[in-house]
Amino acid sequence: MYNDDMHIINLDEINSTSSYLINNSSSLEDRTIVFASYQTKGYGRYDRVWQSSKDSNLLFSVLIKDEKILSKAELISGFIPTVIFKYLRSNNISDISIKWPNDVYVKDKKICGIILNSKLPEYLVIGVGINVNEEILLPTATSIYKEKEKKLDISKEKLDICVLFDNELDKFSNGCSDYFEVYKSNNYLLNKTISFEVLGQIKTGIVTGINCDNKLIVNSNGKELILSSGEVNLSKR
Ligand code: BTN
Repeated sequence: MYNDDMHIINLDEINSTSSYLINNSSSLEDRTIVFASYQTKGYGRYDRVWQSSKDSNLLFSVLIKDEKILSKAELISGFIPTVIFKYLRSNNISDISIKWPNDVYVKDKKICGIILNSKLPEYLVIGVGINVNEEILLPTATSIYKEKEKKLDISKEKLDICVLFDNELDKFSNGCSDYFEVYKSNNYLLNKTISFEVLGQIKTGIVTGINCDNKLIVNSNGKELILSSGEVNLSKR
């Protein structure tokens, strides 16, 4: 049985695994990971609803209290999608990329969403939804089942995720993670034209890369712009 640094909680039904950790952050330990079979109020970025069929997918959140990780919390948004990238690759999924800042895509469809909630310097909550055995999908989404035509055992996948997060968080905390290489070289938006809103103004530009602060580099009318995820509302054209 796996018994390393992750403290595992399995819940049958909850409003949201992220809300659960936020509400219990003071009493729970660093690296508590909570999985739910079903969420009644799963949420994503921009207040979007995250819907998922019961017992079909990986819905989990991880509580981080480790000072070494919290001190570089601004890099977590790039680090987490690379952990999911590795998880999907270990399941033999091909054509995986990361749509900045932190959606994980297979070809042109979203397979995983990530949301971060933090109260620094106290804690960070990483919320992750991965479509595993999901059959009911939006046209813009996919699942491992859709890609491989094979259903996975969710209990085994939970364990794989715990081991992977434990190892990758250790490396990130110790400053020896390869995440930036993975993040930079699997950039879904690279060379694509995007439109974005900065301070109420709509602009367009071609994505030329990601810098070492995980910010997006865009060429807009010959000018290089650096976009931060918090400040920008992005849409691919
Ligand atoms: C997004 O794509 O905007 C992020 C979606 C994140 C969904 C996950 S599911 C587990 C965790 N609990 C939540 O309420 N949200 C995250």
